[in-house]
Amino acid sequence: MKFPIRYEHFEAIEKRAWLLGVLTAVMISIGGLAEITPLFIEANKVQPSEGLKPYSPLRLAGRDVYVREGCYLCHSQMIRHQRFETQRYGEFSAASDSVYDRPFQWGSKRTGPDLARVGGKYSDEWQHRHLENPQQLVPESNMPPYPWLTKKKISGADIQARMRVLRILGDPYSEADIESALAAVDGKTEMDALVAYLQGLGIDNVLPKAKQ
Ligand code: HEC
Repeated sequence: MKFPIRYEHFEAIEKRAWLLGVLTAVMISIGGLAEITPLFIEANKVQPSEGLKPYSPLRLAGRDVYVREGCYLCHSQMIRHQRFETQRYGEFSAASDSVYDRPFQWGSKRTGPDLARVGGKYSDEWQHRHLENPQQLVPESNMPPYPWLTKKKISGADIQARMRVLRILGDPYSEADIESALAAVDGKTEMDALVAYLQGLGIDNVLPKAKQ
C-alpha cells in the first residue's frame, strides 16, 4: 500500500504560513487536552481523608493568620515521598489531606522545616513563646518574631461569614457549627488561633495509616 500523504501535501502546508500556524495550534491543543483533561478529572475525584473534618472556627481563623503573615514563604506543608522526608516529618502528604484548604499551603520553599504534621510536636506554650520570639527558644533561628499576634482579637462574625462561604464551596459545616463560631473564638487572640491551627496540623487532617 502506498503512503497516502505525499510530499506535495507537506509542501502545500509549509508554503502557507497561516495554514501551518492553524494546524500547529490544532495539534498543540489536542496534545494539551490529552494532558490536562485527566488531571481535572482526577482533581474532582479527590475525596477527604477518612476522619478529615473541615476546620473548626478557631483553626480557620488561625489559618487566615498563617496566610496573612506569609508563613508559607519559609514553610512548606507537603511531605514528599522520599524516605528521608517521611523519617523526619511522618507520613507523606496526599491531596486528600488538603481538600478543606483554600488555597492549599503545600509550597516548595523551606527556610524552616515542613509543618504538615507539626501538630502536637510541641506544647501550646512552646508555640506561643516561639512565635513571640523564636530566638529565645532556638537561638540560631532566623524566623522573625510575631509579637503583635497577641494584641488583636478574632472577630466571630467574620469567621461565621467565612464558614458560610466555605459551605457554598462544599465544606460540610452545619448551621449549628456556624452558630457555635461566636462562642468558639470569643476573646481569643490571633496568637491563640494560629497556635490552634498549628497544633491541629497532621492530627485533624491525618491519613488513617499514619495514625498507627
Ligand atoms: C524567614 C523564614 C521564616 C518565616 C517567615 C517563618 N518561619 Fe517558622 N521557622 C523558620 C526556621 C528557620 C525555623 C527553624 C528554627 C526554629 O525553630 O525557630 C522555623 C521553625 C518553625 C516552627 C517549628 C517547627 C519544628 O518542627 O520544629 C514552627 C511551628 C514555625 N516555624 C511556625 C511558623 C509560623 C506559624 C510562621 C508565620 C507566622 C513562620 N513560622 C514564619 C523560618 C521561618
